[in-house]
Amino acid sequence: MAAEYTFCRLFCLIADKLMLQGKKILLGVSGSIAAYKAATIVRLLVKEGAEVKVVMTPSACDFITPLTLATLSKHEVPVTISDNQSWNNHVMLGRWADVMLIAPASANTLSKMANGACDNLLMATYLSATCPVLIAPAMDEDMWHHPATRANITRLLSYGHKQLPVEKGELASGLFGEGRMAEPENIIQYLHEHFNNESVASQAGDLQPVNGSPLPLQGKKALVTAGPTQEPLDPVRYISNHSSGKMGIAIADALAAAGAEVTLVLGPTGLSAAHPSVKTIRVVTADDMFRGSEAHFAQSEVIVMAAAVADYRPKHIADLKMKKGEGDALILELEKTKDILRTLGATRTEKQVLVGFSLETNNEQEYALKKLREKNLDLVVMNSLNDKGAGFNHDTNKVTLFDKQGGINELPLKSKSEVAQDIVRKIVDILHTNTPLIV
Ligand code: CTP
Repeated sequence: MAAEYTFCRLFCLIADKLMLQGKKILLGVSGSIAAYKAATIVRLLVKEGAEVKVVMTPSACDFITPLTLATLSKHEVPVTISDNQSWNNHVMLGRWADVMLIAPASANTLSKMANGACDNLLMATYLSATCPVLIAPAMDEDMWHHPATRANITRLLSYGHKQLPVEKGELASGLFGEGRMAEPENIIQYLHEHFNNESVASQAGDLQPVNGSPLPLQGKKALVTAGPTQEPLDPVRYISNHSSGKMGIAIADALAAAGAEVTLVLGPTGLSAAHPSVKTIRVVTADDMFRGSEAHFAQSEVIVMAAAVADYRPKHIADLKMKKGEGDALILELEKTKDILRTLGATRTEKQVLVGFSLETNNEQEYALKKLREKNLDLVVMNSLNDKGAGFNHDTNKVTLFDKQGGINELPLKSKSEVAQDIVRKIVDILHTNTPLIV
């Protein structure tokens, strides 16, 4: 068993390294200071065996030279539609690629893409591309939050393009905030996920619409809880846990991508949902999370409670900062918080699909099945802190799904976004079983 596990891990690692072998990647570089990172992106892609061609906008050349990217990619880098006597065939470039990655995508390029403007070679290539398009935006925080940029992103997502989350950090303006382009390593990881999802989708049936048919959760309302809660002790201290919220956020994004109208009740975390249609209610305590969830529970057909809610909170919250006493110990009196899943689960109807999580360190299956039964769930997602790469803060997870019919799906280690898609597929299955088609 141990040898089998080691072999699987080794196989996954090798498979991950080879994930981009032979993939044709067309990199579009637009004018942003983050363009200098295009060199690293090309290097990492080539190192993983991908074939890379690069197209640049004229203003990108202010930040990095075509010669640098041509040398690294081993292909000429066209910038203009014609060079002296020859014409750069944007149509064939767009058709050549398995994926077109636009990184960095400046606010200007996003706007042109959303509106189909075609005033440079990058735009002509983009408009000719028949492959999936991934966008890694880069701009200052205020530009990123501007309603025009938000609207452009929404439009681009409606074209079926994928947007990589921007990162938080120091910006070209010297300010600190959201808008930095995803780091090259994260972009490569995203490409792994993209190609992995493509192969999973082709094996397992996709969540994407086929020939204009509606998305599987179109018109359904969903409620997701995610992240930790913080229970204050005094104005400067609190009790909490290590949850980052990544798994629940990935589920909210996957439900939204499947067409659901999602409300995400999110505990304190620096992360946010990437899908622009996810409505996020930020909360701090278990009590706030209960109220935020209760307000949306009855009208939701899909409910996924992935939050790591504190089970206890300090019975008394000091108004002023507690001072160190003379003694060596401090005894805190804690009281139980409301179990949100159990309390709201007691009021659920047969039309709702209710999903809970079970993170354990021992007797995992026994405890997970107990939660499935006692919290009135359709599905419990079990993960164990004993599995490497699973649990808090990782970008990967290893889960087993137990449904109330006795079905068990043990999934291998995957990225959290893939796990989220598997969970959403299972939810879609349960919904179909609950509401058989009337012909
Ligand atoms: N949960 C909740 N409200 C709480 C505690 C847990 O909604 N106050 C939900 C979690 O979001 C998760 C499930 O219940 O979906 C299981 O949470 P977990 O903490 O693993 O289990 P508990 O029921 O709290 O039991 P224990 O901590 O003893 O394992």
